[in-house]
Amino acid sequence: MNNQHPNDPLFEPFNLGDLTLPNRVLMSPLTRSRSSQPGDIPNDMNAHYYQQRAGAGMIFSEATQVSPQGKGYAFTPGIHSREQIDGWKKVTGAVHMAGGRIHMQLWHVGRISHPALQPDGGQPVAPSAIKPEGAKTFISADSGMVDVPEPRALETGEMADIVEQYRQGAKNAKEAGFDGVEVHAANGYLLDQFIKSGSNHRTDEYGGSVENRLRLPLMVIRAVIDVWGKDNVGVRVSPTGSFNAMYDADPVETFGTFARHLNELGIAYIEVVEDSFQGNHANGRPEEVIDAIRTAFKGTYIANGAYTAEEARTRISEGRCDLVTFGRPFIANPDLPERFRQHAPLNEWDDSTFYGGDEHGYTDYPTLKELEARA
Ligand code: PHB
Repeated sequence: MNNQHPNDPLFEPFNLGDLTLPNRVLMSPLTRSRSSQPGDIPNDMNAHYYQQRAGAGMIFSEATQVSPQGKGYAFTPGIHSREQIDGWKKVTGAVHMAGGRIHMQLWHVGRISHPALQPDGGQPVAPSAIKPEGAKTFISADSGMVDVPEPRALETGEMADIVEQYRQGAKNAKEAGFDGVEVHAANGYLLDQFIKSGSNHRTDEYGGSVENRLRLPLMVIRAVIDVWGKDNVGVRVSPTGSFNAMYDADPVETFGTFARHLNELGIAYIEVVEDSFQGNHANGRPEEVIDAIRTAFKGTYIANGAYTAEEARTRISEGRCDLVTFGRPFIANPDLPERFRQHAPLNEWDDSTFYGGDEHGYTDYPTLKELEARA
């Protein structure tokens, strides 16, 4: 069966840095909390899951902690131990074997953590000692969701160590066979906490003005470019995101300025979460912020946020974005690009199996071919 419509913008190939993407249907970074314990180690089941999705124009790995301090949830994988690097080699090998491409998303959660998850039971770290009201995490399989406590403010002298955590993560990702890395500066985690005015009340050179709030994120990105080269590096931002108790007083100014700096650094792409989190864009997408980023940044613009195939086609055709990442539809449809190509119906996702557990709700969603064979 071939129902591909002529000139479908989702299937125009695209050159991204060193990679040629066969389609514009990319897989979002998605926390699935299924690494092996102890040690937060990627495993064969994880490799199978990513391999099933290798038809994506490109895959972003789930957010992966660069250090023990960067961990915020039970069962999320890391990229700071020998065992983790070897585990990720299984993932990248499986994706490449299936003809796919994969960037690792480098993560430090900052204040979205808990002493139960921190080295020596320490307090989670943040730009400022501000508790994210209402933010939750889970610390074990049977903990349920627990409140995130007040963090401690990082000392000025600790910034160099944060940069080194990312640099080492970037090196380890290279050793693990990834095609590049995305620096996670979105969704209320450490770098977003520095960027946004609501969570950064510092009075040293890492807080206050926009330039100061961007200082640490830009130091991190320069370190990652040192390791990977600018063509293999991107950044994820969520300018208007409120998830994890986030707020910025002037997202147009903040993220327009960030985009200008990222343009000077020459990174390959910015991925923008164009909503509050998980698809709440009832009032439309934040067009003014999108304009500010598009104007300042000449590299690739990747859009995210509860897109349908039809909206993605329209926005690409109108020049509002170059590529689109899909999250929940990719969880439930390992062959999502093929379904979009054929205008075929989609499997529905089951949100009770998003985080933690086994193959169920992870590697057992059928492809179209499998459904047809069963019929
Ligand atoms: C989550 O684990 O809930 C999570 C992780 C990374 C994100 C957003 C949510 O960017």
